[in-house]
Amino acid sequence: MVSIEDYKGREQSYVKHVLLEEYLEALVHKTASSYSHIVYTDGFAGPWQSAKEDFNDTSFGIALGALRRAKASWKKAGRDVTMSAFLVERNPAAFKQLETLPPKFPDIRIKPLKGDFIELIPTILKDIPKDAFAFFLLDPKGWRIPLQKIEPLLVRDNSEVVFNFMLEFINRAASINDPIVVAGLDELLPFGDWRDKLLEAQTSDERKVILTKAFSDCLFKLGHYKYVCETTILRPSRDRPLYSLFYGTRHDTGLEVFRDCQVKALEAQSKTRAATKVHLTENKTGQSELFRSLHEMSPEDDVTPFLAAERQRARETMIALAPARASPMLYKDLWPLVLSRHVVRKPDVNKIGADLKKEGTLVFPNWETGKRVPHPGYTVYRASAADE
Ligand SMILES: C[S@@+](CC[C@H](N)C(=O)[O-])C[C@H]1O[C@@H](n2cnc3c(N)ncnc32)[C@H](O)[C@@H]1O
Repeated sequence: MVSIEDYKGREQSYVKHVLLEEYLEALVHKTASSYSHIVYTDGFAGPWQSAKEDFNDTSFGIALGALRRAKASWKKAGRDVTMSAFLVERNPAAFKQLETLPPKFPDIRIKPLKGDFIELIPTILKDIPKDAFAFFLLDPKGWRIPLQKIEPLLVRDNSEVVFNFMLEFINRAASINDPIVVAGLDELLPFGDWRDKLLEAQTSDERKVILTKAFSDCLFKLGHYKYVCETTILRPSRDRPLYSLFYGTRHDTGLEVFRDCQVKALEAQSKTRAATKVHLTENKTGQSELFRSLHEMSPEDDVTPFLAAERQRARETMIALAPARASPMLYKDLWPLVLSRHVVRKPDVNKIGADLKKEGTLVFPNWETGKRVPHPGYTVYRASAADE
């Protein structure tokens, strides 16, 4: 388990790692039930600012732990799953540390690769068997990534991606007229009229929406994903976005599991930020605020209203997306559309469906007596008079 103690001064990485740990644990275990080979690829592995000898506070350390546990658990059940990890790093000192890993993980096929990730993509793709499931983590320190060069990796079948989009730096770079910076950003965001839209933006929130929407559209276009979700990681002590983690998948279940983990990570972020703020106040005033325990401070203070607002918007989306009576749809096709647009968990969406049925806004004609939430095979349509 990642521990906040290892992340002093880089609490934003803790939040990123909570999300990664939660998600990889669930993903690897689940996919190993139907794939006999799982491949984790860390395109910009590090280690970077690691405080632990066992690398438990790094993305690859977290991933290797998840691969190891899933392999052992399936082995106990009589299933042998091959686990591989491609770890790419161009910094010689960091790479040296990656080279120490294979003997420590004899149960996992670890391949440290030295060099530029973009140049190594063909090598990596050639090495991943066609029938393997692959997870790609792309977490560069900077933002100069020519997205179209990553396309062959993004379009691979049976694959998912998490990409760290360095929002704060990108936002700043987008106001710089230097031709090298302009060309770099055009390579990262190769499609869309985001530059024109930025000229119209009045607030930093609007700029964030424009940039994240542009990147999301580029990922959809290049990776042919069914869903792309964004998680904002805030500066630990200021209410400002630092980066955005983008998740791309083609699977409904992936989306469902990701949203669960995202909510947990956002709750961890809220707690961490509350603790960081207390710590900074203590340092500034020289007075201990120990009497105000974290719990008294209501650690979920900024995430609870956000999640409540997302549930409200999810409700509106479900009503808007439900079809007219003449063309009902299956609930199994409706819930992922709602989940993909809002930071809500599947049980929240199910409850919204049940509430909308109870109040007569949606009709589920084959809802069985005694069922509390909609089932995937139920048909659903809007009970609007305008549709009659
Ligand atoms: C932000 S750190 C990675 C942190 C890691 N994902 C984690 O969460 O623990 C980025 C790493 O990528 C490496 N790097 C930067 N550009 C690279 C490139 N083009 N190819 C390979 N590695 C690169 C840097 O040396 C650095 O170690």
